[in-house]
Formats: sequence, structure tokens, C-alpha cells
Amino acid sequence: MDNAPADLAVIGGSGFYTFLDDPEEVVVETPYGRPSAPIAVGAVNGRRVAFLPRHGRGHEFPAHRVNYRANLWALRSLGVRQVLAPCAVGSLQARLGPGTLVVPDQLVDRTTARVQTYYEQGACHVAFADPYCARLRTSLLSGLDAVDGGTMVVIDGPRFSTRAESQWYAAQGWSLVNMTGHPEAVLARELALCYASVALVTDVDAGIDAEQAVSQADVFAVFAEHVDALRTDLRTVAGSVGTQGTCACSTALDGMDLPMDLP
Ligand code: ADE
Repeated sequence: MDNAPADLAVIGGSGFYTFLDDPEEVVVETPYGRPSAPIAVGAVNGRRVAFLPRHGRGHEFPAHRVNYRANLWALRSLGVRQVLAPCAVGSLQARLGPGTLVVPDQLVDRTTARVQTYYEQGACHVAFADPYCARLRTSLLSGLDAVDGGTMVVIDGPRFSTRAESQWYAAQGWSLVNMTGHPEAVLARELALCYASVALVTDVDAGIDAEQAVSQADVFAVFAEHVDALRTDLRTVAGSVGTQGTCACSTALDGMDLPMDLP
């Protein structure tokens, strides 16, 4: 393995720490501050891959405190052009029970208190009709036993939803609820990165399961139960993903007059 930069990254939970073989840590500073942790770069099936624990090494950053801008900027500065983003989600449909994997194809932003752009001046409006990279979604679906498609609604948290909120999300036809999927996806697009999520259902949300409220303990326990299998399958996917090529994500900024140079 040479010291070439990694073109593929995984942003995941702490259960993904053993994703890489022979990892080395790189401390990165960005104009937006430090990412959640030093970035580990190592090998997966002969390919160099970067790994960033979204919530920090000791889960010190809850979803609403993650420095999403620093995380994506830091990865790009190391040469990353493609990001696979596993995350835990609640289910809004009874058919998607705990342990189910879903590769969402749509996102609804219900966050209110997060910076969601790099472009504070000028006119830089990226297309976001399809928030996830079609090519990475196909790679995930060929390597994982996962449901193809679904809309993930992203809330600020840190609290879980009320039953009424949850029933309202479900009534819109949305499938999953989560706290980290936004602005991660749009910031990736604003840096012209390919980005796709793989969602692990850890619970059935409050409005769907009339018996139970969602508990943090249940979410963590179900995640822990399934993370090893997901990590193993994602390693296979990581080895098979191509290079960024010419998909729409890579041209997301074409023709725009950016207010700063990208790393
Ligand atoms: N992450 C995992 N389960 C969740 C839920 N029910 N709501 C929001 N985020 C979640």
C-alpha cells in the first residue's frame, strides 16, 4: 500500500473503527474548525479508504453538535471524492423492522438550527433534486441485502419525535427518521463529492409502534447487534466501488463562481 490519498471515505459510527486495515491517523484543520476526530486512512481490499467517526472518537458530539462542514471539507482536502455514510434510523413504516438496511433515495430536511452551506456569498445554488449519488447507491445495493429507496426525514434532535410528529412524517409517505443525514448530504454535494447513505433501522418510531416510545438504550443495542455484519458487507462494497468518473455529483459546481478555492 503506497501513501496515495484516499478517494473513498466512510463516515460512520464508532462501531466502524475496525473498518480499515493498518490505519494511520491524520489530524486535519479546516477553515471551519476541526472535524469530529483525526481521520484514519488505511486499506480495504487493496484500496486506500478514509474513515471518520461522525460523532467523534468517544461519541462526544451529538448529532446537532457535529461540525458537518469541517468533516466534509477535511475529507476532500485528503483527496476524497466519494463518501459512503452508514447511519442509524428509526422506521416510519411497520414493514421496515429493526435490523433492516435501507439505501434511501430521498431526504426531507426538518432541521432548523444547522449551518447547511459553504457558500455565504455570491450565487452558488447546487442541484439537490436527487440528494444521493446514483452510482454509489447502485454499488451499495449490489453489495448489501438492503431495501432500495425510501425518504429519510432528518430532525435536529437530540430528543426523539413525539407520537404526533412521527405519525405526521409517516402520513407524508416518508420511511425513515434520523438526526445526522442533513446537512451532511448537501455539504457533500456543495463540494462536488459523490455521497450515499445506508440506513440501519434501530427502532420503530413512536407514532408507528403504539406500545413503545423510542429509547436510546434500544437504539444503541440494536445498532451494536448489527454493526459487525454491516461493516463486513461495506468493506466488500468499498472494494468494488469505482472512481468518481463523470457522474452528476462531480459536475455539481460547473459554471458557478465560487467565493473560495476548494481544497
Ligand atoms: N436514530 C435512530 N433512531 C431514531 C429515531 N427514532 N428518530 C431519530 N433518529 C434516530
